Amino acid sequence: MTTASELRERFEKERAAALQRVNEATDIASLEEGRTRVLGRKSPISQARSGLKDLNDAERKDLGQLANSVSADIEEAIASKRAVFEERETKLRWERERVDVTLPGRHYEVGSIHPLTRTLWSLIDIFVGLGYSVAEGPEAELSTLNFDALNTPFEHPSRSPSDTFYVKGTDEEVCLRTQTSPVQIRVMQSKPPPIYVVAPGRTYRRDAQDATHTSQFFQMEGLAVDKGITMADLKGTLQRFARATFGEDLDVRLRPHFFPFTEPSAEMDVECFTCRGAGCRICKGEGWIEVLGCGMVDPFVLEWCGIDPETYTGFAFGMGVERIAALSHGVSDIRGFYENDLRLLRQFGGMA
Ligand code: DAH
Repeated sequence: MTTASELRERFEKERAAALQRVNEATDIASLEEGRTRVLGRKSPISQARSGLKDLNDAERKDLGQLANSVSADIEEAIASKRAVFEERETKLRWERERVDVTLPGRHYEVGSIHPLTRTLWSLIDIFVGLGYSVAEGPEAELSTLNFDALNTPFEHPSRSPSDTFYVKGTDEEVCLRTQTSPVQIRVMQSKPPPIYVVAPGRTYRRDAQDATHTSQFFQMEGLAVDKGITMADLKGTLQRFARATFGEDLDVRLRPHFFPFTEPSAEMDVECFTCRGAGCRICKGEGWIEVLGCGMVDPFVLEWCGIDPETYTGFAFGMGVERIAALSHGVSDIRGFYENDLRLLRQFGGMA
């Protein structure tokens, strides 16, 4: 049996112990842990409370009040301690997360699409709009496809190692393609007509570098093979390309030329977009600017690819992408496209 005075003593003792405990808590977690220990169901205070039932009514009322005030004191102590901790944490967090908004921000450079890439994309767009698809071939190409299949005689000067890069150890059987024309062969060998493709890509020649030559450059090839294709189709198609690229009201002309893999062959000129035919610095007084080589696919080439030249005819063309880009952007030295000089590249900013 617990007496009233014993209980009173226990409550007072536990109040003191609990308050000390609360006082000693170092952070919110230890404070909360202490709360269960001093006020929880198994805490000394709860246990002392169970002694209340042994007392008479007056004592029970009296000590019951004491017990409640002990609990309330402890709760209050916890709450005020908690407030202190919370304030301390907030201050720490402010300190940790403080940003100096007056510092200059990080500077991100915004890049832009390279003018050659943009030119290529817009060329491709024009032909895709005409129903062409895009074909690709390897840059290290079989000499057979780069030359023989394209009707280039063995003694042709372009085959000389002083003009063409051959891959070491291949006995000149593999070269860095000098043109995108071998992609024509690969396409014709891989599927029957009708064929409407453009083939953009890198090409290589052992040329001395100057304002209009680099040893690596881009070309875009075109090939159409179908029943009943004529030179009128060739001219109409290329006129569409030239007008979309240089100006809708410009004239084009075909000038006879020679390429081993087309017969007849031509070069296409577009009316000078600067002087409109009068003659100026851009067109070197000609009034016309040469933009590409083209022609009707030679029956030899069709046969080489297993296509019957009696049933099918076709046209082909090939253009230098640097040249088109230089003309349409007014760049006078194509080496600028390869020097990564931001002063030049920035002039062609924008994403596409
Ligand atoms: N391959 C030629 C060159 O590099 C360009 C060319 C001319 C391509 C006539 C053609 C073509 O497809 O028909 O000079």
